Amino acid sequence: MDDIAELKTRILGAVGAAGDEAALEDLRVASIGKKGEISLKMRELGKMTPEQRQAVGPLLNALKDEVNAAISAKRAALGDAALNARLQAEWLDISAPARPAAQGSIHPVSQVTEEVIAIFADLGFSVAEGPQIETDFYNFDALNIAPEHPARQEHDTFYMHREAGDNRPPHVLRTHTSPVQIRHLEAHGTPCRVIAPGRVYRSDYDITHTPMFHQVEGLAIDKSISMANLKWVLEQFFSAYFGTSVKTRFRASHFPFTEPSAEVDIQCSWVDGQLKVGEGDGWLEVLGSGMVHPKVLQSAGVDPSQWQGFAFGMGIDRIAMLKYGIPDLRAFFDADLRWLRHYGFGALDVPTLHGGV
Ligand code: PHE
Repeated sequence: MDDIAELKTRILGAVGAAGDEAALEDLRVASIGKKGEISLKMRELGKMTPEQRQAVGPLLNALKDEVNAAISAKRAALGDAALNARLQAEWLDISAPARPAAQGSIHPVSQVTEEVIAIFADLGFSVAEGPQIETDFYNFDALNIAPEHPARQEHDTFYMHREAGDNRPPHVLRTHTSPVQIRHLEAHGTPCRVIAPGRVYRSDYDITHTPMFHQVEGLAIDKSISMANLKWVLEQFFSAYFGTSVKTRFRASHFPFTEPSAEVDIQCSWVDGQLKVGEGDGWLEVLGSGMVHPKVLQSAGVDPSQWQGFAFGMGIDRIAMLKYGIPDLRAFFDADLRWLRHYGFGALDVPTLHGGV
């Protein structure tokens, strides 16, 4: 009887002290397993007298139940402790702000506008701006475009609506960035070296024309600026922009606001339907240019006997298509997310002057 009491104290003490599930399992096997201490003692009951058996049997049964219960309780306690330890160690702050996902992209027009500005800034040009809704004075008259000039016809120019009897001067959506030449000279005078990128509008729609598109104007006025300076600046620009030496070809042309005027082509090759700028003997028209007409200088309050210079106007969308191999101009303005993901630029991964093209 005493040894049963001793057994009970020892086993329950060991159960209470067990540090993990494995130790507990060892204890179970060693006490109430087939060959455990309590089981062996139970086997001895057969050899006892009926009186002894009646006294010892219930004690052993009670002990077995008690050990079983103690092990179950300890197992549950160990499980709780393990869970608590995990809960302490692994936690999630659901109030933390979400990690930013890369959403959206930089439109090729924005990207190319940035590139154009960076290259001309490097050549000493600053950026000028003007309104997209212009008076017909800035868009036409000041630029020596006579009232009967075909560019003024309704089918090219968007005129702002006027109520009958409203006699204010007509306003138009600017058809080119050239009116910024006048506005800039009026505001800042000479000498000047500026570019003016921005939106322009013409009533035209097919694979190479959209009613809204982008131009960048260039204007350099000083005492002795010539077409040679224009050619050098443009070749510097195209070589930096395309990342390879690019030749230009000037063809005599006519614009009311320049004299002489030239359309400028850049050197390119067409091999297996692939266009490469800066090589081969093909030419691609990219801009209009010339020496600013004396009448234009005069309209802007500049004395043409003192000052002269060049101007040019170039299509931003067009040079974006050439550099990034974009086939259809109309897709630029469709806001198609698949197109934007394909041709757009990641905000942290854009071509730059210093990073290379
Ligand atoms: N404004 C002209 C156009 O839109 C381009 C140009 C600008 C030509 C400046 C000469 C000088 O076609």
